[in-house]
Amino acid sequence: MMNSNRMVIRHARQLVTNEASRPLKGREMEENLKVIEDGGIWIENGLIKKIGTDKEVWKAVCDHGQTKLVTLIDASQHLVTPGLVDPHTHLVFAGSREDEFEMRLKGAAYMDIMNAGGGIHRTTSATAAASEEELMAVAKERLDLFLRHGVTTIEAKSGYGLSLENERKQLVVAKRLNAIHPVTIVSTFMGAHAVPKEYKTNRETFVDMVVENMIPAIAREGLARFNDVFCEEGVFTPEQSKRILEAGKAHGLIPKIHADEIVSYGGAELAADVGAISADHLLKVSDKGIEKMAAKGVIGVLLPATAFFLMEKPANARKMIEGNVAVALSTDRNPGSSPTESMPFVMNLACLTMGMTPKEVLTAATINAASAIGEEQVVGSLEPGKKADLVFWNAPNYTYLHYHVGVNMVDKVFKDGKLVV
Ligand code: NIG
Ligand code: FE
Repeated sequence: MMNSNRMVIRHARQLVTNEASRPLKGREMEENLKVIEDGGIWIENGLIKKIGTDKEVWKAVCDHGQTKLVTLIDASQHLVTPGLVDPHTHLVFAGSREDEFEMRLKGAAYMDIMNAGGGIHRTTSATAAASEEELMAVAKERLDLFLRHGVTTIEAKSGYGLSLENERKQLVVAKRLNAIHPVTIVSTFMGAHAVPKEYKTNRETFVDMVVENMIPAIAREGLARFNDVFCEEGVFTPEQSKRILEAGKAHGLIPKIHADEIVSYGGAELAADVGAISADHLLKVSDKGIEKMAAKGVIGVLLPATAFFLMEKPANARKMIEGNVAVALSTDRNPGSSPTESMPFVMNLACLTMGMTPKEVLTAATINAASAIGEEQVVGSLEPGKKADLVFWNAPNYTYLHYHVGVNMVDKVFKDGKLVV
């Protein structure tokens, strides 16, 4: 019954609308977040038709003489928010790396493990050995977990292929999953995620391959919207990253960048120079980088679960917000530095390890996250014309969501107005 195409959600204990269809910067992240007590939402054919107090919405339904044709859903026990958006995941890969986690707990460094042939290289080998169907199965399990934690839209990167054939395989899996799973997937090509072992002494040749061979082929097939690169000491230099991102642009792929994660390396500055939609990680971002991001409107995608899992000091979210950068949050779901599908966990960490306020965090996980993947016109807030992607939380108010730590409070999830959890 709940899947009928006309539906009214009544008496939401608290309703977070966060009306905006653009990234919110600086103080707007706190100030724009609108909260309605005893809220209502009228949904038609998967889209929001009207939203406001229960009284306003129910009056509109009555005025249209539609009260008999509608499915009613009681939300009097719930906080209702937009479906969460996760703008940075490495969704499609095979295998896991819990042994490396144990090595790190005994003192090994993340980059040393990678340089010794583990890390991303290991996941690349496992992913190369997996069939498309095997990848479908494991990635679908992860998507189910995302959905159960309130996420209705994600970005998914390739980057465990490092060859055209295997990068393509990951992107084809993401495309197939997008067609069959309630979670919307927006794809990013990340052929420049690591330099394959065979090219260790010949790195420019690999960059040539990404630029001349992989990017044109992936773009031609329409398998990705974005192009990302791991700009990091020992991986891709700012110059190589620039070449890769400019090549993507020439083929219609919008730049994204893994920036200033391990060392301060000019990644944020490069993001501004090439007009990237987002710069992600930013643990070691420079003041100049923050300034340039704010000036160019580059969204800062912060990944506090990654910092936590790598036992690193998290990004300086306060400095970025005070510097008028639009900040978004993401899991960075991957097998090496962030093995979690839980955006609520990331949101808890954003409050407790980065000092973001509950309102800023909600903005960062909804409209700003949607903006970081170009989906801000369709999702990320609850307002007429947008998708009815909603989460019902077992929480009395939005602050409780951040305060009741480490527990999954998702009660129901609606995607395009359909009950999916
Ligand atoms: O975003 N930093 C680079 N890439 C991923 C980690 C990938 C992995 O370890 O498998 C990240 O943290
Ligand atoms: Fe990442």
